[in-house]
Amino acid sequence: MGKVYSKGKVHSVSVMGGVQRLRRQRSRSPRDSPGSPSSQSFSSNSITSTDSEISFDEDDGFKTLVEQKKAQFAKAGYMFPICEKEIDRLQTLHYMFRYFWGNNFSSPMEGVLAKGNAKILDIGCGPGIWILECATTYQSCSFTGIDIAALYPSEIKPRNTEFLNVNIFDGLPFEDNTFDFVHQRFMMFAYTIDNWQEKVLPELLRVLKPGGYLELMENDIVWYEEGPLSRKFREQVLQAMRDLQNIELVLSSHIPEWLSRFPCLSQHHHDSRKAPFGSWAGGVGKFHLTSNKWGAVHMYDAVDGVGLNKEEYLDTIEKVMEECEGRKGYLMSHRYWVRKKIE
Ligand SMILES: C[S@@+](CC[C@H](N)C(=O)[O-])C[C@H]1O[C@@H](n2cnc3c(N)ncnc32)[C@H](O)[C@@H]1O
Repeated sequence: MGKVYSKGKVHSVSVMGGVQRLRRQRSRSPRDSPGSPSSQSFSSNSITSTDSEISFDEDDGFKTLVEQKKAQFAKAGYMFPICEKEIDRLQTLHYMFRYFWGNNFSSPMEGVLAKGNAKILDIGCGPGIWILECATTYQSCSFTGIDIAALYPSEIKPRNTEFLNVNIFDGLPFEDNTFDFVHQRFMMFAYTIDNWQEKVLPELLRVLKPGGYLELMENDIVWYEEGPLSRKFREQVLQAMRDLQNIELVLSSHIPEWLSRFPCLSQHHHDSRKAPFGSWAGGVGKFHLTSNKWGAVHMYDAVDGVGLNKEEYLDTIEKVMEECEGRKGYLMSHRYWVRKKIE
């Protein structure tokens, strides 16, 4: 953190994983328009502010964020912890999966976004990296991200973005038929099987305009080319998640079927890409394996340690990682996209 002195207002800025985050003592209404004068621009080594000067102090705004997120996660039943590394991890995952897919989405939205004036919603946006990147590419469209935790930039962000602190289980604060494109990614750990069908999908489709696209992207926790120890451990974890949390981690066998039940939808698409893990796939593979390890470690409570004590559980994960390193393992990343019928 650095310091800048202003006329009486004190703000704090921390820089995490390349995204500069600013916490103001006077909180800004989440409904301020993206193009309002309080919108800011930034570069990697300088910050400019249009409505006030900014000071960086030693107050660790991140601690507040952590506490806020813990409380909200407890309410929403989300299992992963928050730390600066998680934000870094999510940002690296974004670039990794963009590399695997070669783009940021599969829906045929390119023309609509390039034309401008489209409204795009990202659910569970995390640090907002998907939005920040798309909003920079399509500057005449407006992008909204929602998340139960304010990990996203609050002020220093492109003018055509807004981020709202919303728990999807409370319902989305938007009118029916608002968005041209609704995008959601990496939410498999956040929703039970019932949540997906009864709350999430109906809510995403409610706010989608007729003619608009909904796109979901999730990885199946099925490891190809895995060894015997990995298979046993992974299957135990998957089963414990089903039995104890009602959470399904192999969604490719469910999402197409859940979507097919909505008569308002047409043009069902499903595509997948290999996402390799382990050093055999270079730096990206190493990171992917470490990221899987991070997930497994933090699932201990959720899966009741699959009957192991903490030491045994962590030791098993180490052995699983070693086994994975010796093989050309990968998982499949899936995208599903559907169009809402024009009535
Ligand atoms: C694995 S992260 C994915 C972040 C982002 N979609 C990405 O691709 O980088 C899951 C996100 O979902 C958010 N989340 C979990 N439960 C939620 C809920 N009930 N409502 C809104 N956001 C939620 C978490 O705060 C977290 O930022």
